[in-house]
Amino acid sequence: MNKSDLYFDLKHIWHPYSSMNNPIPCYPIISAKGVYLKLNNGKTIIDGMSSWWSAIHGYNNPRLNKSLKNQIKNMSHVMFGGITHPAAILLCRKLIEITPKKLECIFLCDSGSVAIEVAMKMSLQYWQALGEKRCTFLTIRNGYHGDTFFAMSVSDPTNSIHSLYNYLLPSHLFANAPKCNFGEVWDEKDIYSFSKLIEKNRKNIAAVIMEPIVQGAGGMKFYHPKYLKKVRYLCNYYKIPLIIDEIATGFGRTGKLFAYKHADIVPDILCIGKALTGGMISLSATITTKKIAHIISNSKANCFMHGPTFMGNPLACAVASENIAILQEKKWKNQVLKIESILKINLLPLQKHPKVLDVRVLGAIGVVECFYKINIKKIQFFFIQNGVWIRPFNKLIYLIPPYIIDSLSLKQLIDTISKALDNDQFFIY
Ligand SMILES: Cc1ncc(COP(=O)(O)O)c(C=O)c1O
Repeated sequence: MNKSDLYFDLKHIWHPYSSMNNPIPCYPIISAKGVYLKLNNGKTIIDGMSSWWSAIHGYNNPRLNKSLKNQIKNMSHVMFGGITHPAAILLCRKLIEITPKKLECIFLCDSGSVAIEVAMKMSLQYWQALGEKRCTFLTIRNGYHGDTFFAMSVSDPTNSIHSLYNYLLPSHLFANAPKCNFGEVWDEKDIYSFSKLIEKNRKNIAAVIMEPIVQGAGGMKFYHPKYLKKVRYLCNYYKIPLIIDEIATGFGRTGKLFAYKHADIVPDILCIGKALTGGMISLSATITTKKIAHIISNSKANCFMHGPTFMGNPLACAVASENIAILQEKKWKNQVLKIESILKINLLPLQKHPKVLDVRVLGAIGVVECFYKINIKKIQFFFIQNGVWIRPFNKLIYLIPPYIIDSLSLKQLIDTISKALDNDQFFIY
């Protein structure tokens, strides 16, 4: 990439959540290996983000690469309508192996947001098939489920992009966000707002949708597993399907293979994505029970009405199977435990810093919540100068490194955050 490429990028390419008039600088990365991203100028930086929760085994993993190369020799893509192929069958077998017995029917989709759309459409069709027109969803505040319209409609109505499109989003029900944090003593009052809403609207609710334990882009909060357990109980009681969005948390990030396991519950519809392919290609899945699938399939529509062009893409399926094979070897458990203990020892003490409101750690997630909004442009420049890749948002600086990160690299990420906190220029007062 030369200067003219970067100028072209600036003038013509829209990056996530950015302005075409005054974009925050984008740093040119030409390759990536392990936990290192290589900049255009030859410098390498340590990745603290796993490319937004996805690259759990690091970059350029030889096993994941090989699975793609092998698949390419057979076919890169073939339509999934009326056709099936070994890569999809192998992946779905593996997904059934690693998820609860009750979840037996898999719908492959193209991204996390689409997996949410699919889960919500499944819930609507489920009630249609039962002869009821239910179109309200219940969730909690501070949630985030993606950027497509239905996904936005169940994301937090004030602190997410939802607010920009309020005028045409369907209106759903939002219980108060849980106050009881992971590891604290459970307070029964925490569930009151949710239980009142579900009781009052039990005849209209198509499904409840929750991020399990970790609320990601809505504030990186970790709530009490009892909250989720109560939600499951109430959904059972009122016979309302529970959609669990494991798109960010799935595949070991919180210390359990899936975060709903902290609450020892089983969802009716499970959405997975991001780390499903080890961060290699976009793929997601919405997995449900035979009961829901059969009710939908016995309906007047006779089918589930969704079918993306790249559904079940063989390359994505092949690499996802290899990713799961790596996870099944169980090294991730110790890797995540090690990251958690280093974060606890080295990141938690930042709690004492005068700019810091809270520091929290769960599995391979470390969050520093500041009192002030962060100047992303300035802090990011500083991070790059100091050899690390961290992308804060709002008042949050957080780490979700690849599981393979070594202790020294992780400490460098933490030290750099610590140094950044001392610089007033990085905060907006
Ligand atoms: C919990 C959760 N759900 C859904 C999504 C949307 O996934 P995608 O960006 O792949 O559409 C995200 C993305 O960050 C997420 O964190």
